[in-house]
Amino acid sequence: MESPEVPATVPPAGPRALMAPAIVLERCATGIEGLDDILGGGIPRGNMVLVSGSVGTGKTTLCLEFLVRGAERGERSLFLSVTEASEKLIQNLSTFEFFRADLVSDGSLVFVDLPALYDKLGLEHEEMTPDEIDILIRTVHDLVRTLGVKRLVLDSLTSVCYRIRRDEAIRDFMLRLGQSLSELGCTSLLVSEIGPTQGRYSMHGVEEAIVDGVILLWNTRRQGDILRVLQIVKMRGTAHSRAQYVIELTPIGLLMAPHLKGGRTEGV
Ligand SMILES: Nc1ncnc2c1ncn2[C@@H]1O[C@H](COP(=O)(O)OP(=O)(O)O)[C@@H](O)[C@H]1O
Ligand SMILES: [Mg+2]
Repeated sequence: MESPEVPATVPPAGPRALMAPAIVLERCATGIEGLDDILGGGIPRGNMVLVSGSVGTGKTTLCLEFLVRGAERGERSLFLSVTEASEKLIQNLSTFEFFRADLVSDGSLVFVDLPALYDKLGLEHEEMTPDEIDILIRTVHDLVRTLGVKRLVLDSLTSVCYRIRRDEAIRDFMLRLGQSLSELGCTSLLVSEIGPTQGRYSMHGVEEAIVDGVILLWNTRRQGDILRVLQIVKMRGTAHSRAQYVIELTPIGLLMAPHLKGGRTEGV
């Protein structure tokens, strides 16, 4: 008797037959080559990621390059600035060869000063009230939706949290912001300012638990020089390297190389 023909859709026998096929997440390539390599192509689209580090470690530069590279690919990018005026930021950015002023003039790369926005919205309390936090989330949501923003940077989350203050309110703010951006397919980097020897990735410690990823930057000394080091601490949906990389901020952008001399030394 002839054996019946096996339909092409029947899965192969064995343990694999019981496994669901892995879902491949769409990735938002940061455009920073070394970083995309260790992230398997980029950040899962819609994820909210903390960029955490002490002063001068390259947080703002990394975030700006992420936005410039996105804008170049036709993804509208938004920089929400709390600590530095946009004008000054653009001036500093102009010293990098990877920057293109036309991206700002054609609206692909948008800068918004949060303090000016606070004033415009009438958010006047030193510690934001629940209503004011609502207004802020809704305003960011509307900006992202109406402009079709695909990449957002908040520099810094620490400064915003300074006006939210209570841990529960920060948790709630971040959960709602993250959900709202994710629904709109917007990938975000939130800058977290920490001290050089701080044992956590954010000021309150709740921030790092909410986000989908943490990119940690720190300074370390080697033979009298101060090196910048980067490590991916967490990235949901990604089998990433947790190795340390030395980074260099160069005119053409951020370059990465493996940190060969091992262990995290004292932060500086
Ligand atoms: N045009 C440039 N080319 C190369 N490196 C630069 C340039 N402009 C600034 N930098 C470097 O960037 C550093 C500032 O990094 P920044 O991203 O502002 O740090 P953070 O936001 O973590 O405080 C400067 O100290 C300098 O080393
Ligand atoms: Mg900065």
